[in-house]
Amino acid sequence: MTSSRGVWITLEGGDGSGKTTQSNLLSARLEASGRTVVHTREPGGSEVGQLIRNIVLHHRGDIAPRAEALLYAADRAHHVATVVRPALDRGDIVLQDRYLDSSVAYQGAGRVLDASEVRDLSLWAAEGALPDLTVLLDLDPAAARSRLDSADKPFDRLEAEKADFHGRVRDAYLALAEAEPDRFLVLDAAASPEAIADRIRARVEELIH
Ligand code: TMP
Repeated sequence: MTSSRGVWITLEGGDGSGKTTQSNLLSARLEASGRTVVHTREPGGSEVGQLIRNIVLHHRGDIAPRAEALLYAADRAHHVATVVRPALDRGDIVLQDRYLDSSVAYQGAGRVLDASEVRDLSLWAAEGALPDLTVLLDLDPAAARSRLDSADKPFDRLEAEKADFHGRVRDAYLALAEAEPDRFLVLDAAASPEAIADRIRARVEELIH
């Protein structure tokens, strides 16, 4: 984000694409090199956000698509104001699982809301804040689904959506990356975790040195 001293990196991708593994590896690596890292996520990167996360992921029954978009935007507004901006102002590295590209992909393409309206809503919520780098872990939804199946955890509301939903989410992510090639690093999430981590590390090093 320009005009702040820190560096803001977000990780994006479908459910089961390996974001958690990669952000844990990167966070450990940056900390080992002496950097102060704020490792956070959306939804749920603040106390208020935890409450919102519980609604959007675990509420039983339907949530109207626009209400869902607003809940994610509310989480984002509070998270950026109380966690992300203060950390960037201190000069920290903010490493964040999911940000507004998730809303454009999931609420826009997945729930079929207007993508530019969803993006504008998030930009309003976050007062226009955009990350310095967004890593997109791209994976075929069928491969992602078999990873989630073998993890043997109950699916949340979004994970439980059908294959065509996840196919639209993937296509939307790729279109976002194509539209902003300078911000995005797109990686094949079917590669080995070590190979992916190496690619991410190389790009992050360019950014922080
Ligand atoms: P995760 O934290 O385990 O990745 O789960 C978050 C879920 O919420 C995931 O299925 C994607 C979804 N999501 C949206 O639909 N819109 C958003 O703006 C964000 C941040 C997440």
